[in-house]
Amino acid sequence: MRVVVVGGEGQLGQALLKVAPKDIDVRGLSRAECDVTAPAVDKLADADVIINTAAFTNVDGAEAAPNAARAINAVGAGALAEVADEVGAHFIQISTDYVFGEGVEPRPLLVDDPKEPNTVYGKTKLEGELAVLSVCPSAAIVRTAWLFSGDLLPHKDFVSTMLRLARGSDPVRVVNDQWGSPTNAFDLAAGLWEVAQRQVGGVLHGVGAGQATWYDLAREVFEACGADPERVSPCTTEEFPRPAPRPHWSVLDTSSWLAADLSPLPEWRTAVRRSVSTKL
Ligand SMILES: NC(=O)c1ccc[n+]([C@@H]2O[C@H](COP(=O)([O-])OP(=O)(O)OC[C@H]3O[C@@H](n4cnc5c(N)ncnc54)[C@H](OP(=O)(O)O)[C@@H]3O)[C@@H](O)[C@H]2O)c1
Repeated sequence: MRVVVVGGEGQLGQALLKVAPKDIDVRGLSRAECDVTAPAVDKLADADVIINTAAFTNVDGAEAAPNAARAINAVGAGALAEVADEVGAHFIQISTDYVFGEGVEPRPLLVDDPKEPNTVYGKTKLEGELAVLSVCPSAAIVRTAWLFSGDLLPHKDFVSTMLRLARGSDPVRVVNDQWGSPTNAFDLAAGLWEVAQRQVGGVLHGVGAGQATWYDLAREVFEACGADPERVSPCTTEEFPRPAPRPHWSVLDTSSWLAADLSPLPEWRTAVRRSVSTKL
């Protein structure tokens, strides 16, 4: 089986390449090798499966650059799905919890719950889902959330930022009124290989088990690396205004993932510990 990972130098792209099953012929394509705004058809022609991890992921930056975000997250995703359709490849599009906007607390969000994204990032990712499904109705749309890789990759994610702070000595304040589904990028990658190998389709939520606030996640990182979690104190979203409003509730329900007989992703605390070396 030949699999092409578009966005191969991003956090998830790198994780996918590192945990690829040995019997799969996998190729990662950087933005220079395959820009989704003008997909390189020749590099995708022999693919059995195309996984699109490429995206405009700067959630705040997208507010000031909606055209660029739309070109990549919506139009680009659709263009790549067209190529997949042309070459007969199964298509896997990675999407986000932010398509929901302000979710319906307190229950985890189901795949078909109402979508009211209130950010450019969330809107353009939702447009991307729809563009992909209109071209490839059998595609998999895998929504994930709060991806982290910590010490496992040289990537600037929330867990690696907290690790840098934990290894210093300053107190840290972290938002405690936004709930989500922290997900180890390597756990998601392993799940995506199951999706790819079995060519599963449909809308799926691929996230770590359990739920947390950013504050919970920060404290877990401190504990995992042997720093004092009491250095982390809670604050509110209002105290940290951002250009793109973050949802207070975006915990994702994974029943469609489990119904597709995919292995559940590990619980987020265990997943944090595996991404953190104990070196302070
Ligand atoms: N990170 C999260 O917390 C999170 C949460 C929910 C969903 N997701 C989704 O998960 C997926 C993977 O996220 P990630 O954390 O791996 O993001 P990432 O580290 O920012 O990687 C995204 C990759 O896409 C590439 N890219 C950007 N524009 C492109 C274009 N026009 N053509 C081709 N490649 C392009 C980037 O390349 P350059 O660096 O060269 O621009 C980068 O390598 C995305 O679909 C994202 O929306 C992520």
